[in-house]
Amino acid sequence: MIELVDISYRVDNKQILDNVNIKFDSNFTVITGPNGSGKSTLAKIIMGIVKPTSGKILYNGEDITSWSIDKRANEGISFSFQQPVKFKGLTVHDLINISSGEEMTVHDACEVLSKVGLCAKEYIDREIDSSLSGGELKRIEIASVSVRNSKITLFDEPEAGIDLWSFNNLIKIFKDLREKNNSKTIIISHQERIINIADKIILLENGKVKEISDSKELDNVINVTPCCKVGGELHE
Ligand SMILES: Nc1ncnc2c1ncn2[C@@H]1O[C@H](COP(=O)(O)OP(=O)(O)O)[C@@H](O)[C@H]1O
Ligand SMILES: [Mg+2]
Repeated sequence: MIELVDISYRVDNKQILDNVNIKFDSNFTVITGPNGSGKSTLAKIIMGIVKPTSGKILYNGEDITSWSIDKRANEGISFSFQQPVKFKGLTVHDLINISSGEEMTVHDACEVLSKVGLCAKEYIDREIDSSLSGGELKRIEIASVSVRNSKITLFDEPEAGIDLWSFNNLIKIFKDLREKNNSKTIIISHQERIINIADKIILLENGKVKEISDSKELDNVINVTPCCKVGGELHE
């Protein structure tokens, strides 16, 4: 379990996170809040990409604030970026193999890709470079993260750039992750359908935890980003 204790982050005299205290003790936690509220910064602090100005991060009770990104990854903390990373020279199949830690057959790797709504045969030998669209990259990344046997998996706005049809597949992946009792999922999202399957919802505003809810009580409080919600349907 990850716990943030009095985490603050200040840069150029700007308070980006202000005394954040969160226990990620549920299977499936969603962090939501307006743009610029500090969600991605919080995720980067958990991963070790950004060092907090003060406060500490506990992992199963151990203080990991000084751990490197690699050490955290090796100890089972995975991260899917808001802007996916390209790996020139690496094929989609390579990435899935590396993520799962084993040599996956074409059949198994294809199955993983199908889950994120990609027609597997077309993608398996593609290089992870600029020839892939943003939505394709994002889905390949989500597929690779979902095959990792992580103890903690963090997704930063997995819905970004994903069409409605693929989004339905994503919801299935997230529901499966939620049922995994040996791993915890933390998702940053504005999507009502993702928020609706959360065990715990955290609302960030101006770098502060405004509210923590264990169910859907936050429905009335949350201002779902207007561009993502038109007549209750996903719209991009
Ligand atoms: N390294 C940085 N230098 C200056 N400002 C930053 C830095 N990192 C983040 N910010 C600012 O902190 C705020 C929170 O950013 P972010 O965590 O990306 O928010 P969110 O993901 O909730 O949209 C934004 O105003 C952003 O511009
Ligand atoms: Mg963000």
